[in-house]
Amino acid sequence: MSDVLVDIGMSLDGFIAGPNASPQNALGDEGHRIHQWMDNIEGWRERQGRSGGETNTDDEVVREYFTRVGAYVMGRRMFDEGEKGWPNPPPFQAPVFILTHESREPWKRQGGTTFTFVTDGIESALEQATAAAGEKDVKIAGGANVVRQFLEVGLIDELQIHLAPVLLGDGVRLFDHTSSEPIELDITRVIDSPKVTHLGYLVITEK
Ligand SMILES: NC(=O)c1ccc[n+]([C@@H]2O[C@H](COP(=O)([O-])OP(=O)(O)OC[C@H]3O[C@@H](n4cnc5c(N)ncnc54)[C@H](OP(=O)(O)O)[C@@H]3O)[C@@H](O)[C@H]2O)c1
Repeated sequence: MSDVLVDIGMSLDGFIAGPNASPQNALGDEGHRIHQWMDNIEGWRERQGRSGGETNTDDEVVREYFTRVGAYVMGRRMFDEGEKGWPNPPPFQAPVFILTHESREPWKRQGGTTFTFVTDGIESALEQATAAAGEKDVKIAGGANVVRQFLEVGLIDELQIHLAPVLLGDGVRLFDHTSSEPIELDITRVIDSPKVTHLGYLVITEK
């Protein structure tokens, strides 16, 4: 059975993108700093068709989630920002389901990535992603709006936060306006590296 995981980069002050994010300004002003630790990671460069890079703890973390994940769910704003910038083949190399209110034909890219647009809600997106993932896990890729919707109805099993040592001051907050009921988590791991801290959590759900 697939797990549903969120795996996302965040600034120390809680932002997953800087202010003024748009398709012309992906990740917003200074938002690239959140992912700076990945710039020279071999596993990430490979996914972008680039050679070279470091093999270190951060590389192991990146490779681990690429190995685990068999399908992705993302929000329309994240897709709109990536649509023109992602290379072909895109880094996902797996089916991607985009939550949107605007229907669109599926968009097939090289390397196993097909973007499918889902207009009938998060349960439908997750059902389609789970079927597509087979034995592998489903990653809720972001943005914040979509992550919060899944968290609030108890559909996330696991949370991986890559905490970047930067204070952005403004932007898209991951945990803004979550439900008034506390959501409890167990800490599963803390991986320390010189450029980022990888935090792992299991979401505690009452059954
Ligand atoms: N740091 C990271 O690792 C990371 C990861 C992912 C994203 N990001 C950043 O996060 C930002 C985007 O996050 P965001 O919270 O603003 O937006 P988002 O979650 O990417 O997308 C929200 C949009 O998705 C559509 N949507 C969401 N739920 C839906 C539902 N249940 N039914 C139908 N449509 C639905 C709506 O678009 P429509 O109504 O327009 O169709 C909604 O406005 C971007 O700047 C991106 O670069 C950062």
